[in-house]
Amino acid sequence: MNRTFIIVKPDGVRRGLVGEVLSRFERRGIKIVAAELRTIDEVTAKAHYGEHAEKPFFVGLVEFITSGPALLAVLEGPDDTWKVARTMIGATNPAESLPGTIRGDLGLVMSENIIHGSDSAESAAREIALFFPNL
Ligand code: RTP
Ligand code: MG
Repeated sequence: MNRTFIIVKPDGVRRGLVGEVLSRFERRGIKIVAAELRTIDEVTAKAHYGEHAEKPFFVGLVEFITSGPALLAVLEGPDDTWKVARTMIGATNPAESLPGTIRGDLGLVMSENIIHGSDSAESAAREIALFFPNL
């Protein structure tokens, strides 16, 4: 799998960071093969974050990710591009993300951490099929 899926979350769109985030991937040499600004519906959000359904933060997470337009994109590069993207994104909690990463440079709190990125080849395939079924 040489593709991965990212979401510039509603906080990133509200803050005007779509260009900043996408340009980091482009400058790295990763290609954007699909992109769409879309407000994610509740059913899709729950499917996307299904692995967290039992967690205490699940309801808030679904509320947040559906709270406004998000920029959905499929990225393509060499094998395991999902891994490169995750490294560029940084740790889940921006307070602990290293400088130089997207969350470490642009984020501050866990609940608004700017971007989602697939966490494995399997997740990438599942998420691309969920958000871009025609791709
Ligand atoms: P994402 O799926 O959004 O790319 O984030 P991630 O892989 O880095 O982190 P994950 O464990 O999948 O968690 C998904 C999102 O849920 C929120 N979260 N809150 N309060 C908490 O303990 C907690 N843990 C996770 C974060 O916004 C995280 O991005
Ligand atoms: Mg995750």
